[in-house]
Amino acid sequence: MVFYFTGTGNSLYIAKQLEENPVSIPQAIHRKPLEFTAESIGIVAPVYGHEVPDMVKNFLKQAVFHTGYFYMILTYGNRHGGAAELAEKLCRECGIEPAYINVILMVDNWLPGFDMEEQKKTEKNVEGQMETVLADLRARKRAVSEVTEKDREAHRQFLENTGKMPADAWQHLLKIGDTCIGCGICEKVCPSASIHVENGKAVHTPGHCQTCLACVHACPQKAIGLVIPEKNPSARYRNEHILPAARHPVPCSPVWQVYSKNRCRLRRTGSIS
Ligand SMILES: Cc1cc2nc3c(=O)[nH]c(=O)nc-3n(C[C@H](O)[C@H](O)[C@H](O)COP(=O)(O)O)c2cc1C
Ligand code: SF4
Ligand code: SF4
Repeated sequence: MVFYFTGTGNSLYIAKQLEENPVSIPQAIHRKPLEFTAESIGIVAPVYGHEVPDMVKNFLKQAVFHTGYFYMILTYGNRHGGAAELAEKLCRECGIEPAYINVILMVDNWLPGFDMEEQKKTEKNVEGQMETVLADLRARKRAVSEVTEKDREAHRQFLENTGKMPADAWQHLLKIGDTCIGCGICEKVCPSASIHVENGKAVHTPGHCQTCLACVHACPQKAIGLVIPEKNPSARYRNEHILPAARHPVPCSPVWQVYSKNRCRLRRTGSIS
């Protein structure tokens, strides 16, 4: 059993290689009871500020997992800042004993920090990293990926810097411009029902926004931007193997499809769980 959270498809791409039909955390979090039993249970999620998104934290806090092998795979773009160790701590706080936690370097979708055109051209050997992770998981390896003192210092620095910001600053990061045509794609990809089309225009409601930037990257008009400078405001990203689905079976939750070429690869490599 594999659960995932994704903004721009990286984490779903990884989750799909672990299991053909991974479960979306934004959908699963509404299930009652929140109790899951499987021989192995995995969580795949992006790293935000060296930690997992708030929704993933809440899922781990609320859910009960019955498994002999709990693992997490965290995708990041530039500096994980000790994400594996922080995730291990979170698991323990939630009463979960993690068997395996690893990180995978992929395209960094953080628009203030990176030009997506440059990121797309940067070789990060995702397939090579994935092969290692798949081999580890098949062998039911028990390990948390290494964290250095430099990583821990990066996280301390990050906390110090963000501590000076207003607590709700992340909730007010988006701005919607006049070029919005009310197509509703942002609403469809949002994992937290934080953006809706009203009277033909998108409206963002802060409160539960995960700052995943899914809406920003997916808007065909590039009508959603950030209130802080972006490296390249005309460049956007979505994992090349993943397409947003045309329709959503569940309102207000992200549904994604994988290109057929990836399904062929999945048939070749098989599932690990
Ligand atoms: C709000 C936010 C914070 C991020 N923080 C980090 C970070 O601390 N370190 C890092 O290396 N990448 C960071 N990233 C980049 C993502 O972790 C990375 O691109 C990830 O693979 C995206 O996964 P997804 O496509 O499944 O959403 C951040 C991205 C966002 C949107
Ligand atoms: S995706 Fe862009 S154009 Fe479409 S409704 Fe949302 S903001 Fe408007
Ligand atoms: S409003 Fe945009 S950034 Fe916020 S959770 Fe929804 S898709 Fe992500």
